[in-house]
Amino acid sequence: MYEMKPEYFTGIESIDQEHSRLFELAQETQDLLTDPLVYDKTEKLNSLISELIDYTKTHFAHEEAFMRSIHYAEIDSHMVLHRKFEDNLMQFDPDCLEDVDNQNEIVEKLLGFLITWLIDHIQRMDMQYIKSIK
Ligand SMILES: [Fe+2]
Repeated sequence: MYEMKPEYFTGIESIDQEHSRLFELAQETQDLLTDPLVYDKTEKLNSLISELIDYTKTHFAHEEAFMRSIHYAEIDSHMVLHRKFEDNLMQFDPDCLEDVDNQNEIVEKLLGFLITWLIDHIQRMDMQYIKSIK
């Protein structure tokens, strides 16, 4: 189950809400993937993946604006991590996946990758800018 746990909360409401939404979108994608009752999943799956990718980018932009507003000293290296992650995400762009047979497998891989990164990034990197304002 992909969801927020107490240790992921930064205490900044807008950021926590966006992190929650990312977990929620990942869970919706996972649910659709494993639902035996939906016959043709491709379209819905593609729109969820696109939303996940777009939302991640929007979230990064908000987080970067927040880091700027608190004059966070490590903002540049943090932004490099965001850009690298975005580059990695683009290999899962639905436009590139439409005709592949193992789409489900690739979406599973995307979810694993996204969630592992999110959990690690929130706890190790995002918490650092939080600590800097305390
Ligand atoms: Fe971040």
